[in-house]
Amino acid sequence: MSKKTFYITTPIYYPSGNPHIGHCYTTVACDSIARFKRMQGYDVMFLTGTDEHGLKIEQKAAEKGVTPKQFVDEVVEKFKALWSYMNIDYDRYIRTTDSYHIETVQKIFKALYDKGFIYKGEYSGKYCTPCESFWTDSQLDENGCCPECHRPVTFSKEESYFFKMSPFAERIEKLLTETDYLRPKTRVTELVNNFIKPGLEDLCVSRTTFKWGIPVTFDEGHVVYVWIDALSNYISALGFMNDAYSDYDNYWPADVHMVAKDIMRFHAIIWPAILMALDIPLPKHLAVHGWITFNGEKMSKSLGNVVDPFVLGERYGCDAIRYHILREMALGADSSFSNEIMINRINSDLANGFGNLVSRTVAMADKYFGGTLPTEREAAPVDDDFKAVVLKAVSEVEAAMDETKIKQALEEIFKAVDRANKYIDETEPWKLGKDESQKARLAAVLYNLLDGIRIISTLLSPFMPSTMPKVWEQIGASEADVTYDKLSVFGVLPENVTVHKGEILFPRIDVEKEIEELNSIIQKNMEAAQANLSAAEKGEAPAEKIELAPEISIDDFAKVELRCAKVLSAEKVKKSDKLLCLQLDDGMGGRQVVSGIAQYYTPEELVGKKVQLVANLKPVKLRGVDSCGMICAADTPNGVKVLFLDDSIPCGAKIR
Ligand code: MSP
Repeated sequence: MSKKTFYITTPIYYPSGNPHIGHCYTTVACDSIARFKRMQGYDVMFLTGTDEHGLKIEQKAAEKGVTPKQFVDEVVEKFKALWSYMNIDYDRYIRTTDSYHIETVQKIFKALYDKGFIYKGEYSGKYCTPCESFWTDSQLDENGCCPECHRPVTFSKEESYFFKMSPFAERIEKLLTETDYLRPKTRVTELVNNFIKPGLEDLCVSRTTFKWGIPVTFDEGHVVYVWIDALSNYISALGFMNDAYSDYDNYWPADVHMVAKDIMRFHAIIWPAILMALDIPLPKHLAVHGWITFNGEKMSKSLGNVVDPFVLGERYGCDAIRYHILREMALGADSSFSNEIMINRINSDLANGFGNLVSRTVAMADKYFGGTLPTEREAAPVDDDFKAVVLKAVSEVEAAMDETKIKQALEEIFKAVDRANKYIDETEPWKLGKDESQKARLAAVLYNLLDGIRIISTLLSPFMPSTMPKVWEQIGASEADVTYDKLSVFGVLPENVTVHKGEILFPRIDVEKEIEELNSIIQKNMEAAQANLSAAEKGEAPAEKIELAPEISIDDFAKVELRCAKVLSAEKVKKSDKLLCLQLDDGMGGRQVVSGIAQYYTPEELVGKKVQLVANLKPVKLRGVDSCGMICAADTPNGVKVLFLDDSIPCGAKIR
C-alpha cells in the first residue's frame, strides 16, 4: 500500500533584501511540521521558494546596476544559506524564474482567459507603488492611503487584464464559514465583512508598466501581475501543466499552506477563486500566523529593525533560535521579539529544564552505576504517574500538530519535561545512591528517566533536529529506539542501557552581559541598515514621483477647519487591528474621533498629547463607531506618525 501523503508550503519570499528572523518563522514552523509528519510515516512534500518578479525587484536591480536575474540570483543564495543554517529540510525549492514555472503560469493565464474568467479592461484607480497594488476607494484606509502599508497612493491608469472574482463569492464564503479551511477561524469574520460582503472586486492580473514579469503569451507588452504568478507556484512545483515534475496527482491538494496575516486575503480568497476557475481541488488548510514584531513594529528589512538569525544562531545554536520563535508565536497572534525574552526562554526551558534533565540523569547513571544500568528493578507508585504524564504528551502533541498549533505542542512537551524534573525531586536518587539496599529502586528511577527522555527527545526532534541526536547518544538510544511507533510505550531502551556523558546541550546564558552585547550588535545592524537604505526609505524623500492633487484656491483651503485638540482618552475599537477611538477636548465641548493608528501608537502614547484635528469633516461610522473628524498624521517608511502640537496651544485654537 502506498504511504499517505502530506504536502505543506511556505509562502515564496521576495528576494528583495537579506532574509531575517521574521522570514524564519513560517519556514521553521513548516519544517517542524514536515519533520513531524515524516516521523509519523507520511510521504511528505515540503515546498518553499522565492517570488522573483515585479517592479520592486526591477527597481532594486537597476539601483545596483545589475539585471533583475543577477540581483535575485544573489539574494536567493542568501535565503538558501539561511535555510541550510537553520537546518531546514525542504523537499523542493521553487524560483518563479524557473522555466517550468513560467510555462505553467502562461498556460494557467491562457486557460483562465479561454474559459472567460480573464478579460481585458482598463484600470484607473489608486495605486500603491511599494505594494504594487491597485486599491479601490472603499479599500483605502481611513486616511485615504494604502490599506496594507499606509503610504500615500497615486492615481494611475493602465490597460490590464482582470480576473473575475464575483462568480466564486458564494463558494468562497462557504469555504470560509462552513469548513475549517482557515486557521484560526477567528479571522473569518474580517474577511467576509471586509471583502466578500461588500462584493468581491475583480482582480488586476496583468501590467504593462514594467517588464520584469512573465509575459502574457497572447498579448505582447503585458506581463502577468504578481498574484497569479506567485500563487501558482504551489501547483507548478508539482508539475501542474509542465513536464518538469510529475507529483501533482500524488500531493495535490495541499494539506497546509502557512502564511502570515498580511497575505491571508490572497490565500483565503484569491487562491481558492483561481483554483475554482481552473476546476481543481482546493487546499485543505490555510494556517495564518501573526508577525514577529520588534519594538512594536513588523520586523522588516526596510524598517531597519532586523535581527540577524546568523548572529543569534552563532551565539546560542540554531535549535535554540528555532525553539524560541516557535514557542513564542501562537497561531493568529503577533509575537514580539525581545532579546530578554529569548535569553530567559533559552535559560529556563532549554538550559534549566530539558538540558538539566538530560545531564543530571546521565551524570547519575554514570556516577552510581559506571554508566550501565543493572537489570534488577524495584517499582513504586510514583513511577506510574510520571509515565502517564509523559505518555499523555504524545497524544496531546499529535493533536496539536494536526491543528498546526506548534506553540501548544511545545507547551505539552515541556509539561512532560517539568514532570520529569519533579520526578527526580520526588525520588531523590542522590539519597538512594548512598544506600546499597536501594540500588534496584535507583536503577528503576534512572531507567524511567532515561526512557522518558527518549520519548521527550523524540517528540522534540522535529523542532530541534540538530540537538536531539546528541541526546540519543548520551542516553544510549539507538536509531530504532527513537521512532514514532515507540513513543506510546515505556520500556524501549535496553534494560542494561549504557549512557555516555557528553557536552552540555544548552549552556546557561549570562542574561545581563548578553543583552548588552546583543543590543550593541543590533544597534550597529540598524545603523548599517539605515545607511544602506535609499533616501526615500529613510523618509528623506519619496522614491516615486510625488503626484499632487489638482490645485485649490485659498478659499478652498479655508473650507477645511483645522483645530488644536487634546487627547483625553484612547482605546482600541473592538474587532479592529487598526482603529483607535479617541476622546478629544476640542475646546468646543469635546468629540470622538476614530483613527487608523492602532498599529503605530498605544493609547498611553497619545493620552495628554495635543493633535491637529480636521474639525468640520462630515461624521462617519467606522466599524460601527461614530467618528466626528480626523486627526492629521504623516506617512513615513517607518509607519504613520501623528502630528503632535506644542502643549502651549490651547484646545480649539484654529490652525491655518
Ligand atoms: N511573495 C509574497 C508571498 C507570495 S506567496 C504565494 C510575499 N513575500 S514576503 O517575502 O514579503 O513575505 C513572505 C512571508 O514572510 C509573508 O507571510 C510575510 O508576512 C512573512 N513575514 C515577513 N516578515 C515577517 C515578520 N516580521 N514576522 C512574521 N512573518 C513575516 O509576501
